[in-house]
Amino acid sequence: MISVKNICCIGAGYVGGPTMAVIAHKCPDIKVTIVDLNAERIAAWNDEDVNNIPIYEPGLAEIVKSARGKNLFFSTEVEKAIDEAEMIFISVNTPTKTYGVGKGMAADLKYIELCARQIATVAKSNKIVVEKSTLPVRTAEAIKNILDNTGNGARFQILSNPEFLAEGTAIDDLINPDRVLIGGDTDEEGQKAIEALVNVYSNWVPKEKILTTNVWSSELSKLTANAFLAQRVSSINAMSELCEKTGADVNEVARAIGMDSRIGSKFLKSSVGFGGSCFQKDILNLVYIAKSYGLKEVADYWEQVVIMNDHQKKRFATNIVKTLYNTVSGKKIAFLGWAFKKDTNDTRESAAIYVADDLLNEQANIAVYDPKVEESIIYRDINYLGTRAAEENKQGIEVLNDPYNACKDAHAIAVLTEWDEFKTYDWQKIYNNMKKPAFVFDGRNILDADKLKNIGFIFQQIGK
Ligand code: NAD
Ligand code: UGA
Repeated sequence: MISVKNICCIGAGYVGGPTMAVIAHKCPDIKVTIVDLNAERIAAWNDEDVNNIPIYEPGLAEIVKSARGKNLFFSTEVEKAIDEAEMIFISVNTPTKTYGVGKGMAADLKYIELCARQIATVAKSNKIVVEKSTLPVRTAEAIKNILDNTGNGARFQILSNPEFLAEGTAIDDLINPDRVLIGGDTDEEGQKAIEALVNVYSNWVPKEKILTTNVWSSELSKLTANAFLAQRVSSINAMSELCEKTGADVNEVARAIGMDSRIGSKFLKSSVGFGGSCFQKDILNLVYIAKSYGLKEVADYWEQVVIMNDHQKKRFATNIVKTLYNTVSGKKIAFLGWAFKKDTNDTRESAAIYVADDLLNEQANIAVYDPKVEESIIYRDINYLGTRAAEENKQGIEVLNDPYNACKDAHAIAVLTEWDEFKTYDWQKIYNNMKKPAFVFDGRNILDADKLKNIGFIFQQIGK
């Protein structure tokens, strides 16, 4: 039996950081080293004040504090960590390709390939290489080819162990996972490698929740899970538009269908659209894979989930303009929230970015407040779209660290993230300081409609 004592994880991001921190916390006998090329990120992970680690995630700072310097290490010395480890997790980013064949659809695997080449060059002893990143089905084959043909004699086993954590609840998801999925080769060596990783997770995950499959099923299950989850959001968002036309209430519809145990109640919250670094990227990747096998109907079916999501973001912005008498030019619109969901400082693909872009095109003045997102990130996000010069974005968007100031003199408020604190504000005070008539567009259905209407707001929620 292979007993792993030394783990290396390449990539200290939203997955590598929390996942490895929990492994170190739960397995005090295993040394876990997380490496990254980004020296600034590693320095932040090593910051003496654990509240300055680069990722905000409830419970993460405490876990890092409990293990850091004991059996959890953050380093930029990638080669040293690879050399010392028996098991190497690859947790690097796999964004949508922005160039060449598959541009805008396929996953960009250049970081994965780089890792494989580096492992091949450095490894002097046998290693188990674990795909933690989300990868197109059959990527393990490419990794194996690189390792076997560029290496210096060491033997490699490739496992697929996709991560299902959601940001904002990552620590709870890691400590109490619905399941852990491990895919590996069906031969004896493959089974031994699977067993080694099963043993790591068995330190805290009940055996019946650890599912083992062949590599391809595991790789494809991850894309499938994200596609199904995103599909539910697009499905309820599609119904939200119909609700708005017919007098049905999307929350009531969601509740009614969610009580059917075959449908289930989770992931049926209509919204301004799903964001985050993965749903869109993974579905587009799935669409690309289906197309590459000539499966046009399969590709079209899944692509519609993304098309619907883009439509939802766009119609939220359009609705604001229409309701404000067809012009927002020169009007202040306050944004409550910029993160793609609550309890995270991650803003990748957040709906707020696209709504802001549309409103800037209409010459609105936007004032943003988010409890966890820094000003520089907000400008980075909007500049990344490339719609207009950075200087213009700077003039169009103001970032404030006080929500009351953000809403002062605004014509309208748009709720873009479901932060709990928004529900606790003194809404009477906010109303008093706004231009009249004062509008609230609740893109997350979190505010009390009756209360706000009584105060005098003109109030709209998605799907109502
Ligand atoms: P991230 O961008 O936060 O982190 C990736 C890190 O890898 C970066 O810090 C980058 O500097 C580093 N890196 C890239 N190439 C490297 C190399 N050759 N050597 C060393 N470091 C390198 O990304 P993430 O959100 O952690 O996602 C990573 C993977 O996990 C993706 O495939 C994603 O689809 C998947 N995933 C993400 C989530 C999530 O919630 N974010 C959940 C499940 C799965
Ligand atoms: C998602 C999956 O939930 C994870 O299982 C997966 O590991 C991860 O993607 C990944 O592969 O990266 P995450 O994107 O972090 O996790 O967060 P979710 O809770 O799934 O939310 C995604 C987006 O959908 C958010 O913008 C959220 O506000 C939105 N959403 C979610 C809704 O609009 N309605 C819902 O009912 C649920």
